Amino acid sequence: MPVVESAFDPKDMIFRHLGPTGLKVSLFSLGGWLTYGGTQKGDVVKECLQTAWDHGINFFDTAEVYANGESEVEMGRALKELAWPRDEYVLSTKIFFGTGRKEPNTRGLSKKHVVEGLKSSLARLQQPYVDIVLAHRPDYATPMKEIVEGFTQCIRNLNLAYYWGTSEWSATQIMEATQIAERYNLIAPIAEQPQYNAFHRERFEVEYAPLFKQFQYGTTIWSPLASGLLTGKYNDGIPEDSRFATNKAFFESTIKELQTPEGKAKIEKVKKLTKVAEELGGNCTQLALAWAAKNPNVSTVILGATKTEQIIDNCKAVKLIEKLTPEVMQKIEEILQNKPSPPPTFGRDRQRHPPDSTSSATCTPRAHPFQSLRIHRLCALCDRRRSALLAEVDHNRKIRFDAWRWKVAYQNPASEKEAWKRWGSRGM
Ligand SMILES: NC(=O)c1ccc[n+]([C@@H]2O[C@H](COP(=O)([O-])OP(=O)(O)OC[C@H]3O[C@@H](n4cnc5c(N)ncnc54)[C@H](OP(=O)(O)O)[C@@H]3O)[C@@H](O)[C@H]2O)c1
Repeated sequence: MPVVESAFDPKDMIFRHLGPTGLKVSLFSLGGWLTYGGTQKGDVVKECLQTAWDHGINFFDTAEVYANGESEVEMGRALKELAWPRDEYVLSTKIFFGTGRKEPNTRGLSKKHVVEGLKSSLARLQQPYVDIVLAHRPDYATPMKEIVEGFTQCIRNLNLAYYWGTSEWSATQIMEATQIAERYNLIAPIAEQPQYNAFHRERFEVEYAPLFKQFQYGTTIWSPLASGLLTGKYNDGIPEDSRFATNKAFFESTIKELQTPEGKAKIEKVKKLTKVAEELGGNCTQLALAWAAKNPNVSTVILGATKTEQIIDNCKAVKLIEKLTPEVMQKIEEILQNKPSPPPTFGRDRQRHPPDSTSSATCTPRAHPFQSLRIHRLCALCDRRRSALLAEVDHNRKIRFDAWRWKVAYQNPASEKEAWKRWGSRGM
């Protein structure tokens, strides 16, 4: 397989804010599902983490359930031996499924399991805290207020984490948790960990769109290569040491699907994507990763890797992102044929709402609407005005002016004329 020719420099790594927070995560990160503590144990885990680190990766992800706790054990041991400065890397774990025990309180999102599960995770990781703890799934059996209280307690009272997030929650559930946090002065979640790749788009691109718009909700996306399908390694069958072979039972239905017309169509798409990748000087793996990373609503793409070579290969995708011009993206869409349609607006598209120039404004962390009741009340009146009011607009003088003007005009419509006058004496 051809690779991008230029050598990757760790300094090329891109860092993005994790949602509305000040925390910066590398655009590519590394996770331990099915790999560390599963098929890979011992030195190889440490080597993979070191290789990721050498390529500019600063964010590592695991979960209590991965290999029934063994992933945390292996990654924790490696992190301890590597002894990087703790303030230089970001670590997340996820609570919900427990570690395989079947007692009634050793899984779910009750306050008891959130707190005790996280304490047990930290003991396995040999860490005093994680940066982010995620609710690995929604818990339909626990009241949402108790869930938010449990995570708030971990952060505010016990110093076991700095932030909390969600994984595979619906947009409605995330909104509910956020509203409860505001109403009861609790801490709101800041990021979602969803599946997102070229074959799995609908929820990320359509259902979560309001979360990105309203809360700047962050995302740490998983299975960017559809478990390896997008590398092209399954084009001609299942290689012996590949994930589908080493985790046969888990991927039984996926393997069967590859024999169906839908599965064969996916392989055909991978072959066509490979050609596009080669034209750009890369391979299909890198193209698939760059395609996901190009989406501005992705905070970080979590890589999975059984070998150091895969990490080296995958990190070269950073170089490919800039080659994904609108023409190339269109070519990819024509191959994928799966772009989700946005929900119908019935002729009531918000784009026509003034002031139009604010549409590209990016919001500050203050834009998280539930951090200030006053701001929330304003927000409730008009989405567009909220983002104008709270926009971080230093990249665009015009936008900055609009934001300020609308704020003044909104508080006192009669004063808009006065605002124009006062603006003249303001520094930028
Ligand atoms: N929140 C959730 O519910 C959830 C669910 C799943 C995953 N995750 C997180 O997301 C992370 C990434 O997910 P994922 O592991 O499914 O990602 P993925 O990128 O879709 O698949 C990774 C696997 O593909 C193969 N691979 C990767 N790079 C390759 C390359 N250059 N050439 C050939 N094969 C390559 C490797 O498997 P083989 O070498 O074994 O073939 C590797 O383990 C996980 O580790 C975990 O932290 C979260």
